[in-house]
Amino acid sequence: MKNEDREMQGHEYDGIKEFDNPLPNWWLVTFFGTIIFAFIYYIHYEVAGGPSLKQELNAAMKSFESQKSAVAASTKATAPEITEQDLQKMSEDPKNLALGAQIYDGKCAMCHGPQLQGLVGPNLTDKHWKNGKGTRLDISHVVRNGVPDKGMAAWGLLLKDDEIYAVTNYIFSKKDSNPPNPKAPEGDLVQ
Ligand code: HEC
Repeated sequence: MKNEDREMQGHEYDGIKEFDNPLPNWWLVTFFGTIIFAFIYYIHYEVAGGPSLKQELNAAMKSFESQKSAVAASTKATAPEITEQDLQKMSEDPKNLALGAQIYDGKCAMCHGPQLQGLVGPNLTDKHWKNGKGTRLDISHVVRNGVPDKGMAAWGLLLKDDEIYAVTNYIFSKKDSNPPNPKAPEGDLVQ
């Protein structure tokens, strides 16, 4: 297209004319869009008192903390008074150990190994313990409350009390069973 054919602005000053070069629509939409966005943003956060990033973070942390303490309260509330002897007595019933083995195979073996030899989680047959000293009560406590930041779930939320005791007794019954390919000891040696 020759210059003479192009649309002109229609004015001329001292022989100087101007082409009519309109801005593309996509550019105009973006341009006015940013102005409208800035306006709404300013009104929302500076005039109408919208929350700052810090306030949003504080609110999120607050709801996280309250959920966490609700979970802690619910796990504590379901832990009845029970003694080492109570657990030992339960383990004399073969049904108790059978139930424990069934729960172990279904829910624990993928992390602690089918023979409790340790995999992702620690070996549960050796004399080393990361949590407690390996008494029935200690085991039932860690099974119920878990070690959430170390990858061990709080099973108290998923298992019934008698299931926790059954799997606890099953683990206890496998003490010193020396399974093949044991995971290296973790935690403190308990004589
Ligand atoms: C997702 C993997 C995973 C599953 C599933 C799992 N555990 Fe664990 N468990 C772990 C890890 C990891 C630890 C180590 C926690 C730590 O570092 O204190 C652990 C620790 C333990 C301990 C304490 C060991 C010690 O040395 O202190 C016991 C007991 C235990 N688990 C029992 C169970 C039982 C019972 C189940 C099934 C109901 C189960 N675990 C399911 C990963 C798992």
